Amino acid sequence: MASIFAKKPLAQLLGEANSGHGGLQRTLGAANLVALGVGAIIGAGLFVRTAAAAAQAAGPGVTLAFIVAAIGCAFAGLCYAEFAAMIPIAGSAYTYAYTTMGEFVAWIIGWALIMEYALGAATVSIAWSEYLNKLLNIFGTEIPFNYCHAPAEGGYLNLPALLVIVALSLLLIKGTQESATFNAFIVVLKVAIVLVFIGVGYQFINPANHTPYLIPANQPDVLDKTGKVLISYHGFFKHGIGGIVGGAAIVFFAFIGFDAVSTAAQEAKNPKRDMPIGILGSLVVCTILYILFGHVLTGVANWTEFADPTKGREASVTYAIAQHMPGYGWLANAVTLAILAGFSSVILVMLMGQSRVFFSMANDGLMPKAFAELHPKFHTPYKSNLILLVFVGAFAAFVPGSLAGDLTSFGTLLAFVLVSAGIWIMRKSDPDQPRPFRAPLSSASFPLVPILGMVICGGMIVALDNFTLEVAMGWMALGFLVYFLYGQKNSKLQQGIVVIPTEVEKEAFIKPDKHNA
Ligand code: ALA
Repeated sequence: MASIFAKKPLAQLLGEANSGHGGLQRTLGAANLVALGVGAIIGAGLFVRTAAAAAQAAGPGVTLAFIVAAIGCAFAGLCYAEFAAMIPIAGSAYTYAYTTMGEFVAWIIGWALIMEYALGAATVSIAWSEYLNKLLNIFGTEIPFNYCHAPAEGGYLNLPALLVIVALSLLLIKGTQESATFNAFIVVLKVAIVLVFIGVGYQFINPANHTPYLIPANQPDVLDKTGKVLISYHGFFKHGIGGIVGGAAIVFFAFIGFDAVSTAAQEAKNPKRDMPIGILGSLVVCTILYILFGHVLTGVANWTEFADPTKGREASVTYAIAQHMPGYGWLANAVTLAILAGFSSVILVMLMGQSRVFFSMANDGLMPKAFAELHPKFHTPYKSNLILLVFVGAFAAFVPGSLAGDLTSFGTLLAFVLVSAGIWIMRKSDPDQPRPFRAPLSSASFPLVPILGMVICGGMIVALDNFTLEVAMGWMALGFLVYFLYGQKNSKLQQGIVVIPTEVEKEAFIKPDKHNA
């Protein structure tokens, strides 16, 4: 057996990418990819966590927290763009690690990405179920408690969360292009509503709400009715400048998803040009919207109202509209609709990202081969989508949502750190490899962008709470076990098997339109 740090040769990877190995169809253009990114990015993070970050750590400085998180993402995003244009293959961070840091690190990333994509999809589907009830409330009805709550919360199962996973998994099986069209429609709707909120809300900003801009060190704790501490502002990441970093770790969730664009690299028509546009374009669009949104939200309502359980601690955006924007009740309803639509596209892209990462891992023998089998007609990894439907659906139906949000951030941040490191390593090991896109300010001897990507994203990992870090470590330990019991034994690289595309797969790749008009 080879070493567990054996690297997959870059030439072999490029051969797979260029031959269309695996038979995924190249159907996505630059606009589709930007939409895919925005589809995955704008969701619970913006609508729920903006107020949470303001209330718990950053105050009105949540706008700065967005900027810090965006800077961390931008450095990582530049590294993703360089990799995705250079190695346009489905596995994203997992694949990049395989060729730069070897199989074991690749496995670690693949395992961490399950936290990002599969767990992320389940988390967002549970939030989707809550907002479905809010929408139904507008029409005077709702889903009975027992059918929209997990057993641990006193219900039978979370049926809407399960159903949205089922519906979107089936859409993904039907086709990448169909899914992209559905996604584009949703993106237009949610961006429109975010813009209306920003435009209308701007007129209701009370400048007094922005003073002081950061939470003072002597800010009193927030207590519940029984006197229990709900929010404490002691601690470096809880107030002042440190609170901006603490806030950044909370709103980081809002940026998750731009990296999912890279999982579609094997389905991009012109990956060399369009991958950087898709990844960086979606990040830029969302960053601008987020900064404006944070500024308006904390200007319309005072951040302390978002900390107060009797005021805007829950459903913060609709609270701010209802309390401080008289005459715009309809906008509160529209925001609920945008949230539902937004969550749907986040779930869609996360499920797609997960199936594409598994697709690559299965092609390498690190996952069972069912994950790499394509539907004979639709050319999508349908078995993988069905398996995910069962597992993610079960998680959504039977596990409470509070468990998973920060774990999603952990998995993503770990991938970002390792992708940034990978660019550094690659600049040294393969300096002459053609790079259609290069991260700027990064020589092989002093790669500024990858270093900053590692430092800022690493800093956000440290700023996550201890419980999240403990659970994440447990998950990673389980991953080590699975690797040594299954992955290492079945790895094609370990067995010296070189993956060569079959004639059928080449044929499917060369004439994509035949199957997917
Ligand atoms: N960025 C995604 C969201 O905010 C995960 O829902």
